[in-house]
Amino acid sequence: MFHVAIIMDGNGRWASERRLPRVAGHRQGAESVRRVLEAAPAEGITDLTVYAFSSDNWSRPAAEVSALMRLLRHFLDNQIDNCIRNGVRVSAAGRRDRLPRIVLDSLERVERATAGLTRVHLRIALDYSSRDLMLEAVRCGARTREEMSRRLLPDVDLLIRTAGEQRLSDFLLWECAYAEFHFTQRLWPDFGAADLASAVSDFRGRQRRFGGLPQGYCEIPA
Ligand code: IPE
Ligand code: IPE
Ligand code: MG
Repeated sequence: MFHVAIIMDGNGRWASERRLPRVAGHRQGAESVRRVLEAAPAEGITDLTVYAFSSDNWSRPAAEVSALMRLLRHFLDNQIDNCIRNGVRVSAAGRRDRLPRIVLDSLERVERATAGLTRVHLRIALDYSSRDLMLEAVRCGARTREEMSRRLLPDVDLLIRTAGEQRLSDFLLWECAYAEFHFTQRLWPDFGAADLASAVSDFRGRQRRFGGLPQGYCEIPA
């Protein structure tokens, strides 16, 4: 398994730079998701989790929130055939009870249609709050690390955040315990296959230790 998670940031800035409304940046951002998803298998990615809408994003102006929901529904409806063709399983992580009915319908349709596919698992974090999900896991009876991990997402190997920000914004707090972080100035709507390749190549050069010593470490005799 190679789990890459992406905090897709900078849509608004991309639009502002072009004197366009913020929604134009979100629209272009959806294109980037499509590109990255297409490039994922060649990078050995088996699990791709994208942060599309945080629980804190409800605090944005109502017009932006509803534009995001509309875009999301279009994305799900338009990508369903593509995902089936390419063996991509799609599912969502986060709360479902506050999503508009039409988004939920599209989501459930794509989840059902792609449930048996195994090439790449695309998880869309929607109305997502890592703190809330951890609390819920505990409330549902998780008591050990293994039980927590079973109720949450798989451990993240590589976490990418675009647009120069260097924070987690309540994303995958448990799952990123030993993730490698890659921050780039690139705004999400400009992010493409070459950026993904360079993030993965950066990751491949890292030495992961998980608290131990580097692999093959040999003590120099005193
Ligand atoms: C990321 O882009 C997309 C969402 C959070 C939905 P932003 O909308 O946060 O873009 P900036 O950070 O304002 O540039
Ligand atoms: C995090 O981005 C949420 C998503 C990418 C969906 P934000 O732009 O909302 O995060 P902050 O407010 O800059 O931390
Ligand atoms: Mg942002």
